[in-house]
Amino acid sequence: MPVPKAELHLHIEGTLEPELAFALAARNGVTLPYADTDALREAYRFSDLQSFLDLYYGLMAVLRTAEDFTELADAYLERAAAQGVRHAEIFFDPQAHTARGVPIDTVIEGLTASLDRAEERYGVSTRLIMCFLRDESAESALATLEAAEPYLDRITGVGLDSAEVGHPPAKFREVYEEAARLGLRRVAHAGEEGPAAYVREALDVLGVERIDHGLRCMDDPDLVARLARERVPLTLCPLSNVRLRVIDTLADHPLRAMMSAGLLVTVNSDDPAYFGGYAGDNYDGVRDALGLTQDQLRELARNSFLASFLEDEEERRERYLAEVEAYEFGG
Ligand code: ADE
Ligand code: ZN
Repeated sequence: MPVPKAELHLHIEGTLEPELAFALAARNGVTLPYADTDALREAYRFSDLQSFLDLYYGLMAVLRTAEDFTELADAYLERAAAQGVRHAEIFFDPQAHTARGVPIDTVIEGLTASLDRAEERYGVSTRLIMCFLRDESAESALATLEAAEPYLDRITGVGLDSAEVGHPPAKFREVYEEAARLGLRRVAHAGEEGPAAYVREALDVLGVERIDHGLRCMDDPDLVARLARERVPLTLCPLSNVRLRVIDTLADHPLRAMMSAGLLVTVNSDDPAYFGGYAGDNYDGVRDALGLTQDQLRELARNSFLASFLEDEEERRERYLAEVEAYEFGG
């Protein structure tokens, strides 16, 4: 069994495997612009974040009913559990569905039907984080937050994703202030393709508690020192970074340098159906490409639970951390 870990950066829509996409397309009478699953997989040659997002939003056309979202989440949880995921904080993108006429109620009810039995079925505890699309307006984000109010007992926090460059965090100041008033935790993608300045802005203007990606902080030594001092977790996604051409190869990933700088980094899969692997595959990838030691792998697993939003269940966090310490690496 792989090392126990929490997954903190995972877009549920990014777990849509080609086989499930075609099955849902058939069920829902949706015609996809690909002959078959091989042709779809062939299209997964991305030149940057935008080229991925175009395909990712397009394929969501097959997700129409609550059952579709339940099946999507079930399939993810089963795969994640097999790779050692014990706790998952799952992003979803309501605006990508409401814009297509799928009500937010359908999305949340479908996802929670799966999450409600995830622990019993898969041994995975879960949280939901609702993301706003940063290339849409702040007004649209605020309307999304309002539409989610009946479900706030099921939503742990808010996030910010989609096309980064040209959409700085400050655009969403009021939305994040409102989210804080509602008692929601706050995270944001920053420093994936965008500059280190967006990481600072996410901390200072949005008050985020974790940075998703954050790779580009390495351009700014003062920012690195601050992130280390304040123990701000960074949710890294190494296979994603290669597939979206943020870096050339896994061997170029700054993960080791980030650990050496004292940063609280975690390893996650982002959109595993598109980027060549789930959480365990990302751990294996950086282990092999960067020559990580067992101590370093254990540190990454420990960090994932330390960075998770389990403050309301400290006993559970302690149990998971004990599993990490007791884990025996093979070979
Ligand atoms: N939405 C899904 N995956 C994303 C990523 N890697 N960056 C920004 N938005 C996303
Ligand atoms: Zn992401």
